[in-house]
Amino acid sequence: MCGIVGVTGTREAAKVLIEGLKRLEYRGYDSAGVAIVNAEGQVVVKEKGKISNLEADLNWSQLEGDCGIAHTRWATHGAPNKVNAHPHVSGDLAVVHNGIIENFGALKVQLAKKGHVFTSDTDSEVLTHLIDDFYDGDLVEAVQLALGVVHGAYGIAVTHKDFPEMIVGARKGSPLVVGIGDGVNYLASDVAAIMGHTRQVMYLDDGEMVTLTPQGVTTTTITNEDIIKEIQEITWDLGQIQKGGYEHFMLKEIFEQPQTIRDSFRGRILAESGDVKLGGIQLTDWELRNIRRIIILACGTSWHAGLVGEYLLEEYAHIPVEVEYASEFRYRSPIIEPGTLCLVISQSGETIDTLEAMREAKRKGAKILGITNVVGSTIARESEGGIYIHAGPEIGVASTKAFTSQVTILGLLTILLGRRTRLNADRGKQMLQELERVPDLVQMVLDHSDAIQEIAQVYAKHTNCLYLGRGLNFPIALEGALKLKEISYIHAEGYPAAEMKHGPIALIDPDMPVVVLAIKDGSYDKIVGNVQEVRARDGKIISIVTEGDTEIAALSDHVITIPDTMNFWTPLLSVIPLQLLAYHIAVLRGEDVDQPRNLAKAVTVE
Ligand code: G6P
Repeated sequence: MCGIVGVTGTREAAKVLIEGLKRLEYRGYDSAGVAIVNAEGQVVVKEKGKISNLEADLNWSQLEGDCGIAHTRWATHGAPNKVNAHPHVSGDLAVVHNGIIENFGALKVQLAKKGHVFTSDTDSEVLTHLIDDFYDGDLVEAVQLALGVVHGAYGIAVTHKDFPEMIVGARKGSPLVVGIGDGVNYLASDVAAIMGHTRQVMYLDDGEMVTLTPQGVTTTTITNEDIIKEIQEITWDLGQIQKGGYEHFMLKEIFEQPQTIRDSFRGRILAESGDVKLGGIQLTDWELRNIRRIIILACGTSWHAGLVGEYLLEEYAHIPVEVEYASEFRYRSPIIEPGTLCLVISQSGETIDTLEAMREAKRKGAKILGITNVVGSTIARESEGGIYIHAGPEIGVASTKAFTSQVTILGLLTILLGRRTRLNADRGKQMLQELERVPDLVQMVLDHSDAIQEIAQVYAKHTNCLYLGRGLNFPIALEGALKLKEISYIHAEGYPAAEMKHGPIALIDPDMPVVVLAIKDGSYDKIVGNVQEVRARDGKIISIVTEGDTEIAALSDHVITIPDTMNFWTPLLSVIPLQLLAYHIAVLRGEDVDQPRNLAKAVTVE
C-alpha cells in the first residue's frame, strides 16, 4: 500500500526513481511524486493519478541531481489529489511516507501554533513539519526525535537540502528494504523497485532506521543504537516483473499457473514414501503429530485459500481447523491452547491485519507457520517457521497465481500432517502423483480461454452475478465472486449452493447469471438439484463441470469443462475458469484490470 523509492549516487536519480515508481504502481495509484535534492535545493514534482500523469509533467532538465525520493500513493487521509500527493515539503526538507500517523491531529494543532502552515489534509505532511521542527543541523537526530512523539505506522524516506547526497529512512509497520550497489544505494518499500540495479538487499525491521549516502549505508535503531543487518540476495528476476507480451499482468499471471504450481511443489515431494518435505517449518515430528488445532489467519484471496485448507486439513489430516479474518482475530480474545498451530497466509507477507494477528497469536503461545510469497517480507521474517509458495512476483492487484500456489502448499501440508497420523503411504503417493499431473491439467483449462471470452461477451453488461459451490468448491465460489467484483465492479456474491434457498434465490430472474461449480464429487447430486432450482426461476446458468458430464450441461446456458482429477486437487482447476471469466469481462467493460479502482496490492494500513 503506497510505494516508496529512493536513490543516492547516480546522475540518473530521476530516471531510476520514475522507473522504480512504475514498478511499484500496483501498490497504489492515486497520485505520484518525486523530489530531487541537489546543492541548490529540492525540486518537487507531483501529480494526481498514475505515474504516466506525473511523467507527462516532468521537465527532466530541472530534475538534475544525484539523490532523490519518490512515492506512489494509495490515499488514507485526504482526497487523492495533487496537494495531498507526496513528497511533502517543509522548509528544505522532503518526506515520503507509507502508513498512518494516528496522533497527527494533535500534532498539527501544536505545530500550527508554532507557525507551521499546512497545505494538505494528510497525516504525512504533519510528520514532515514535525521533523523539520526538530531539525537543528542534524537530519538523523531530527527524524529520531520526531518518531519519538508520533503514534502509528510508518515507512519513511527523508531528504534535506543541507545533505544533498543523503536519504534517511525509518520503519515501523510499513516495509522498507535497502539496496546496496556500487557507489549507488537504494531505499524502497518493495524489492521490485530496485530490481535490475542490485541484488544485495537489507530488510529493515520495525524500530530501525537507515542513513544512505553513495559511500555507504548505516543502520541504527530509532533510539540511535547501532545495529548490524544481514545482507541478503534477491532471487527474483527483472523478467518476472514485466508483462512478457501479455496485455495485462493479470493475464500473464493466470497463464503462468502451470509453471507456478509446479514451482510450489518442486523438490517437496518424497515419491517413494508418499510423503512431503517442507524444509522451513521448524517443527519436529513429535510436534507435527501433536497438533491439536489449527487456526488459519489471512485476508482477501489468501483467506479463501485458507478456507480450502480447512476442508483439506479436516478431511485428510483430521485436525480441527478454524479460518479467521485476521482483522477480526486481532481484536478479539482468541483462545490459544497448547497444541495450537497458526497458519498465517499472505502473498505479500505485509498485510498489516495479518501481521498483527500473527503477533497476537504468537504472544498467546501459538506455534506460527507463515505461508508467504515475498521472500524477506515481514511475516516471513517474524514467523518461527515458514513455507514460501514460490509463485514469483505477483503484480496484478487481483491475486491469481498466488492463490493456486497457496492451495498447493496447503495440500502438501495436509499430506505431511496426514502422513504423521492416519493417511497411509499408498494414499499419500496417489495424491502426490496426481499433483504432478495438475500443471498439465491447468494448461488444458487455460486452453479454453477463448471460449470463456465468448461467454464473457454475453454477460459483460450485467450488473449482478451469483456464484455457487459446495464443499471444497464453496471457497472457489467466493474467490470467483471476489475476482469479478474487484476488477469489473459488477456486484457478485459467492454462496454455498444449498444456502441459496435461504435468501439469494429471491434475486434470481432472467437477468441474473449464476455461475455454478458443479464438479463430479460427493455433493454432485445435490448440486444438480440446486441448478434445477435456478433453472426453474429462469436464471442464466454458467456451469463449471467435469469433462464428460452431460447432466448439468443439459440444464445450463453455458458450460465450461475442467479435466477430471482427484477431488483433493479440484480447486486448483475449478478456480481457473473463474479467473478468466472475471478477466475477460473486465477487459470487455474497459476497466483497468491490473490496477482496479480503490484497491491496493498490499494493504499495510488497518
Ligand atoms: C489486498 C489485495 C488482495 C489480497 C489481500 C491479502 O486486498 O488486493 O489481492 O488477497 O490484500 O493480501 P496478502 O498479501 O496478505 O495475501
